[in-house]
Amino acid sequence: MIMEIRDLYASVGEREILHGISLKVAQGEFHVVMGPNGSGKTTLAKAIMGHPGVKITGGEILVDGKSINDLSPDKRAKLGLFLQFQNPVEINGVGFVNFIKAAMESVSGGTINTKEMMNDIKGYTSKLKIDNGIVGRSLNDGFSGGEKKKGEILQMALLKPKIAILDEPDSGLDIDAIKVVAENINDVSKKENIGLVMITHYNRILSYMKPQFVHILVDGRLVYGGGAEAVDEIEKGGYDKYINKSV
Ligand SMILES: Nc1ncnc2c1ncn2[C@@H]1O[C@H](COP(=O)(O)OP(=O)(O)OP(=O)(O)O)[C@@H](O)[C@H]1O
Ligand SMILES: [Mg+2]
Repeated sequence: MIMEIRDLYASVGEREILHGISLKVAQGEFHVVMGPNGSGKTTLAKAIMGHPGVKITGGEILVDGKSINDLSPDKRAKLGLFLQFQNPVEINGVGFVNFIKAAMESVSGGTINTKEMMNDIKGYTSKLKIDNGIVGRSLNDGFSGGEKKKGEILQMALLKPKIAILDEPDSGLDIDAIKVVAENINDVSKKENIGLVMITHYNRILSYMKPQFVHILVDGRLVYGGGAEAVDEIEKGGYDKYINKSV
């Protein structure tokens, strides 16, 4: 699968946040998106997944050459897109396991064998070092910051998307958890040939993961597209050299 974003303009409310973004991601590739707070990274992630709060005002998002601009998020998920939220929402009353099962059945269009799914969940809670007790709880309800982020990676592992947008999978995680999350993202994406678009602020997670492409978003525009060498430069010098430039 190939996802192509062509000259995308998007607004939140009355305000235009994205001013002409172009980006191409193929299954199996690993892209990183960095950029200052408020530059539009989450807005881009939401636009890709079809979040109702983000309005596309120009340009196109294509999956295998077909526009998905008018598709609802569930249809985008069926095509193989997945979004890990920066701030996962707590949904009291919706069981973690029921939610995952419903999502898997919706995406696959078939019936999921509960026993196999529970085995898979158990395997991933162990790999991700999550207390298995979250399995019996409501979705994200009272989960710690780290449990929420790990829970999203567990969902990715079970849903097996073709392209996953990961919005800061490392924020709020302790040093050991960053390594665990990075290793699991690596393993799952390699095993399932998932294309990754990972938003992050820090190079720590990138000491465990090797992106092929790095993009820098400043004020709703991509100002750098190139190799991972930019990550160390940003760590040393911040975004100064990228501000007021565009590619
Ligand atoms: N509902 C909203 N109403 C008004 N402005 C909004 C709304 N949602 C987002 N914005 C604005 O859009 C801009 C981009 O926000 P976005 O969340 O995409 O940034 P980001 O790059 O993900 O930042 P961070 O690194 O802090 O997560 C910000 O200025 C934000 O305040
Ligand atoms: Mg964000």
